[in-house]
Amino acid sequence: MTINRQWLLARRPVGAVSRDDFRFHEAAVPEPADGDVLVRTMYFGYDASQRIWLTDDGGYMPPIQIGEPMRTMGIGQVVDSRDPSYAVGDIVAGFMSWQDYVLVRGDGPMPLMVLPDAGYPLTWNLGIFGVGGLTAYFGVTDGLKVKPGDTVVVSAATGATGYLAGGIAKALGAKKVIGTAGGPEKCDWIVEQAGYDAAIDYKSEDIGARLAELCPEGVDAYFDNVGGDMLDTLLLHMAPRGRILICGAMSSGYTDVQMQGPRNYMQICTQMLSVQGILLPFYRDQLEDGAKQLAEWVVNGTLRVEEQVVSGFDKAPDLLPTMFSGKEPGKLILHVSDPV
Ligand SMILES: NC(=O)c1ccc[n+]([C@@H]2O[C@H](COP(=O)([O-])OP(=O)(O)OC[C@H]3O[C@@H](n4cnc5c(N)ncnc54)[C@H](OP(=O)(O)O)[C@@H]3O)[C@@H](O)[C@H]2O)c1
Repeated sequence: MTINRQWLLARRPVGAVSRDDFRFHEAAVPEPADGDVLVRTMYFGYDASQRIWLTDDGGYMPPIQIGEPMRTMGIGQVVDSRDPSYAVGDIVAGFMSWQDYVLVRGDGPMPLMVLPDAGYPLTWNLGIFGVGGLTAYFGVTDGLKVKPGDTVVVSAATGATGYLAGGIAKALGAKKVIGTAGGPEKCDWIVEQAGYDAAIDYKSEDIGARLAELCPEGVDAYFDNVGGDMLDTLLLHMAPRGRILICGAMSSGYTDVQMQGPRNYMQICTQMLSVQGILLPFYRDQLEDGAKQLAEWVVNGTLRVEEQVVSGFDKAPDLLPTMFSGKEPGKLILHVSDPV
């Protein structure tokens, strides 16, 4: 009998998530019912928002229940299908979970996509063509509507979303793109490797003073991945009619759905700022167009692809905390098996 290895939620994490919040289990391979697709998982992508799915509330998705396998974005191969849109052997990407075999439906919150044999690494479908890359694309082009001459700031600028948001803003003609990151090495990386014009080390520098120095006429567009005190500081440095995109709230650690709201929110009134959110499923009909544009920028050298691929199913729970405690730049991916 084939064994289905699983990482199940053992208890609700309190504070930072840890390996002890999960438990290893071996189960039978599930049987697909009508409409199900049985997928053998190959790669798991890591997203900070996985932490919020572990709260009682779950945030924008149903909470993961104790005893259930941990939800993830993933890539896998179809091994059995009761949905005519998916054939055995297809390589697919979508919502999966930390187990060898997962039952997926094509009609979930994000479409289960059949991946083309496109001549680039499969992992790119979780990174540049996945949640991070596409959120960066729609966030900068549609959310912030970055235009030539803009001064743009991106927080968490080494993250899977942030490093691309800066490059996309430059591609659209932004005059100056500034990123925030933790530590001098990461600050060097975003300028030398990700095409940013300048970096602010949020762990050691006075962010307000640096913004005043780098953006004397104010910030036209702020791509906010962090929330908290950083958002409050940015609110004081926005140009009149500036735009803010609320993409994430890394500073909260996502340990709860209730987060610190901005104290300086009256700046929105007095500077006539626009504040908009983003959630990728709202763009579900435009994902292919976004991916095409991103691919063009990769091919012509405007954007680079940065990812760290780690191997080993046993490591699945160890990588999640690193999203908050510090990880290498780019997309973090776990490789668990190869296609047959
Ligand atoms: N709304 C959407 O549809 C959507 C889609 C994708 C992502 N997001 C959100 O976007 C944010 C970034 O996601 P990602 O995939 O790019 O993440 P990622 O690759 O894990 O990067 C997260 C980054 O956050 C930084 N960070 C961690 N704790 C921080 C803190 N307390 N203050 C400031 N920075 C901190 C880390 O960099 P340092 O080492 O520099 O601290 C890390 O590079 C997350 O909040 C995520 O939830 C939203």
